[in-house]
Amino acid sequence: MKGFKAYSGNEASVLNYIISKFLKLSKLHGFKTVHLPLVEEVELYLRTSGEASDVCNKELFEVHRYGDKSRGWVLRPEGTAGCMQMVKEQSLMQDNHELRLAYHGPMFRYNRPQAGRYRQFSQLGWEYIGVSDYHSDFEVIKACVDFLKDLNIDFEIEINSIGDSNDRKNYRKELKEFYNLDDSQDPLKVLDKAENFDNVPKMKINEKDQNHFEGLKVLLEKSGIKFTINPFLVRGLDYYNSTVFEFKSKLRESQGSLLGGGRYDYLMEQIGGKHTPAIGFSIGLERLLLEFNQEIENDLVVIASLDAPDFALKVADDLRKEGTACVIWKGTDLSKILKKAVSSKIKRVAIAGEKEEKAGKVVWKELSF
Ligand code: HAM
Repeated sequence: MKGFKAYSGNEASVLNYIISKFLKLSKLHGFKTVHLPLVEEVELYLRTSGEASDVCNKELFEVHRYGDKSRGWVLRPEGTAGCMQMVKEQSLMQDNHELRLAYHGPMFRYNRPQAGRYRQFSQLGWEYIGVSDYHSDFEVIKACVDFLKDLNIDFEIEINSIGDSNDRKNYRKELKEFYNLDDSQDPLKVLDKAENFDNVPKMKINEKDQNHFEGLKVLLEKSGIKFTINPFLVRGLDYYNSTVFEFKSKLRESQGSLLGGGRYDYLMEQIGGKHTPAIGFSIGLERLLLEFNQEIENDLVVIASLDAPDFALKVADDLRKEGTACVIWKGTDLSKILKKAVSSKIKRVAIAGEKEEKAGKVVWKELSF
């Protein structure tokens, strides 16, 4: 099926490796992993991403019981709205001043598949809820920087401030005139897709958001994080305000956005909750796979059971107290076992045959490749 990919072998190992790094990063920063439903009511996304967004306008996958189209269920296209829905339904902000939530898993968007763009893809995301200070913007951007650097992935950062709803209302008016648009088009979405920015007017930002943005810029500069201000970065989803950012690939232009995020201080109100400021980001897992060129160490120890299976089982159990180990059952031809281990990048093989059992210890083979 176009746009739906299965991953095995090294690709699957890389995906697992990135996810494990993300879980570690989240834990280090006090972000608790949550698990969200894959199906939500369409209304949730119409209210938050916006009816004019690509995500709602043409990319939603509808879900219904075979033959019954009466319900407006869809496969989730992103995680932020579902996360906030959970916070509201479970009253998670009642006993907390702030919440740090992490999630990872598949998202679904019906678009034309190409390298880096799939119909099922996975996001790794953080939502930092309850804080409006620009220091929180800095924290999440800095965490993204650390994460990608740790994976040896090169990137460029673009940031912008899209002010408050009044600023965007005025900007929409200005863009509508500039592009000569009719009422059926959202000028911000036209700008989001534009490739040429000659003479395009820039958004005017209110003083409060301007100061917020200045504060963030100073923090980024002080910590040596390089960024570009892209005054035309507006993001494709409606719920954003104030700070927005994207990390872009240095290798690929098309589908080059590795991650995107920003503040969404009014999303909770859009779904009927109390005002709750928040900021977050989502990383495209498969896009990182395209950038990743590190060797993943295989720390599995293989035990060649040869002619003493019971002994091999016991050796495996002992080894698992320290790390990962598995017994190879098929074949008593040691040279074949070693060859296979080399091709799987396994560094150590324990030989556990009858001879070793009698001697009371295994023989180790260290492999190099
Ligand atoms: P987004 O920019 O729509 O933001 O998606 C975030 C990332 O998901 C993109 O930068 C890209 O890496 C990946 N991505 C998006 N669509 C596809 C696709 N069709 N195939 C492969 N990868 C894709 C959001 O979804 C927001 N929820 C981010 C956020 C979290 N904002 C605040 N909190």
